[in-house]
Amino acid sequence: MTDQHSRGAWASRIGFILAASGSAIGLGNIWKFPYIVGENGGGYFVILYLVAILLVGSPIMVAEVLVGRIARTSPMDAFDRILGARTAWRGVGVLSAFTGFAILSYYSVVAGWSLHYLYLSLMNAFEGLSPDAIAGVFAKFYANGGLNLFWHFIFMVLTLSVVQAGVSRGIELAAKIIMPALLLMLLALLIYASTLPGFKPSLDFLFRFELGRVTAAGALEAVGHSFFTLSVGMGAIMTYGSYLRQKDDAVGSALTIAGLDTMVGMAATLILFPILLTAGLETKSGPGLVFVSIPLALSQFPGGQIWMICFFFLLFFAALSSAISLMEVVAASAIDSFHWPRKSASWILGIVVFLLGVPSALSGGDTVFGKPWASIFGRNFFDLFDHLASNWMLPIGGLFISLFVGWFMPADLREQGFKEGSRLAALYPVWLFILRFIAPIGLLTVFLAKLGS
Ligand code: PHE
Repeated sequence: MTDQHSRGAWASRIGFILAASGSAIGLGNIWKFPYIVGENGGGYFVILYLVAILLVGSPIMVAEVLVGRIARTSPMDAFDRILGARTAWRGVGVLSAFTGFAILSYYSVVAGWSLHYLYLSLMNAFEGLSPDAIAGVFAKFYANGGLNLFWHFIFMVLTLSVVQAGVSRGIELAAKIIMPALLLMLLALLIYASTLPGFKPSLDFLFRFELGRVTAAGALEAVGHSFFTLSVGMGAIMTYGSYLRQKDDAVGSALTIAGLDTMVGMAATLILFPILLTAGLETKSGPGLVFVSIPLALSQFPGGQIWMICFFFLLFFAALSSAISLMEVVAASAIDSFHWPRKSASWILGIVVFLLGVPSALSGGDTVFGKPWASIFGRNFFDLFDHLASNWMLPIGGLFISLFVGWFMPADLREQGFKEGSRLAALYPVWLFILRFIAPIGLLTVFLAKLGS
């Protein structure tokens, strides 16, 4: 059995909070959330998402942290370790590793976009460009498969350099500076956005709830995103929880992270939509949304270039700290279950992730067998991966975690795990009820509605 010491542990509870929020806060909040809000038509989608965070995502996040902290091993072995026998629950751990592969493959491509935009900002490439020209910059880059591949490669190398060195050393320190800087930057941008004429219409767009517009696909996307954004459903938070010390407050930490993460996603939409609406651009601008609206706003700013450099650097870093957690799950499975040395596990599996991401990097423009990728797979390749991973694999993983903790793990371990070190011990019955009934029934309802639609 690997003990806590040799596996590494966080130096402090705040270390766990920073690293886990580093995992949670990423492209999901700043790149993905605003653009799927736009594509789904706003209002009802945001509200469904908030409900999903409250009733499904956060309770399962708490469950994941507890499983990690109790089992102290990677998701592949965690369930069996708690039950003290070899069981079929191992399958959930295997699913986690696959989900990690799938997400990281395209995540790294989009993270590469943030590197390219960092480079463009450093070159001052947006100065004096019209809104259409700024949108054109993205379209052209998106279609350039070779350049996408290049940045995907660079980003994977950066991710692997951290993971191969071991988690708690690198991330904890970096996250202590970068995460607060990101929050400050968003706050400043939010203040700016609130002065724009497009702010008020954005609020209407984002918060008007019309029940009639809810569709099964929209509901699944909202629920799926609540998993994606919290990094829940594939063992990432479980793995980080496994480095948490027994006496640390797992419940309070998980809820703090969920709260921070939700705030960042909401802030990003409240920043980007006013910019888009003020410039008279479409809210349905798809995956390029953040890459068009930020240069648009900041290129008109005094000192805008510096702001833009900071923004894309922070976006890149937010993506890096999430990618590290994805890679960590994949690597930790091989390290803990197959006893691979950390370095080789990281690099070998990292190459697999890189190769898996190649179609996503090429999917923006290049053709295969003379046809555009999108016409063969029905959607862009990265969109297909994203759809499968966040709408199906993560929620299915989450469903199993809620069932495991709610019904199958020893009750005394569960209760003790929840209450130990926690100031929120009184919430135990509420949490258990949600975990046993509300979350699984909610998830099954949304799955069935989507399958039947
Ligand atoms: N939560 C991350 C984001 O929002 C993505 C992620 C998903 C990371 C699953 C780890 C596990 O960007």
